[in-house]
Amino acid sequence: MAKVVMANDHGAVELAAKLKKHLEDRGFDVTYLGVSTPDSVDYPDKAQEAVEEFRKGGYDFGVVCCGTGIGISISANKMNGIRCALPQNIYAAEKCKQHNNANFIAFGGRIEYQEDPNAILDAYIDAAFEGGRHERRVGKMMALEGK
Ligand code: RB5
Repeated sequence: MAKVVMANDHGAVELAAKLKKHLEDRGFDVTYLGVSTPDSVDYPDKAQEAVEEFRKGGYDFGVVCCGTGIGISISANKMNGIRCALPQNIYAAEKCKQHNNANFIAFGGRIEYQEDPNAILDAYIDAAFEGGRHERRVGKMMALEGK
């Protein structure tokens, strides 16, 4: 069964629950690291937990959420090997896999999405990395780590 790691801060409790249910309905084995209460936590801590779990291996991708999706995606992207996309819609979600080979996807619980976040997540999941010229660009992107 395909595995996903998920984490969120207090700004995305409801959205994370919705995405988690959707993933489970699709048959994913979700390792959920919380939080599921409105008590305040720091999004860099949740990003770090999610990436450290992902690095244990066996995961297809990670999903991280905060109020905007911005803080937790920036935090995840600070960690080596992570390409965390914050797509604003279905189109960008599809491209972040096809072109950027994103291995994490972020959402904002306080963002009013014009398209259903479940459909945005589906577009990411159902797309495939296209390789070719994108392989070269992703390689260059990853070579920026640590600079
Ligand atoms: C927490 O209040 C909020 O700052 C956080 O969820 C996120 O939006 C940060 O980028």
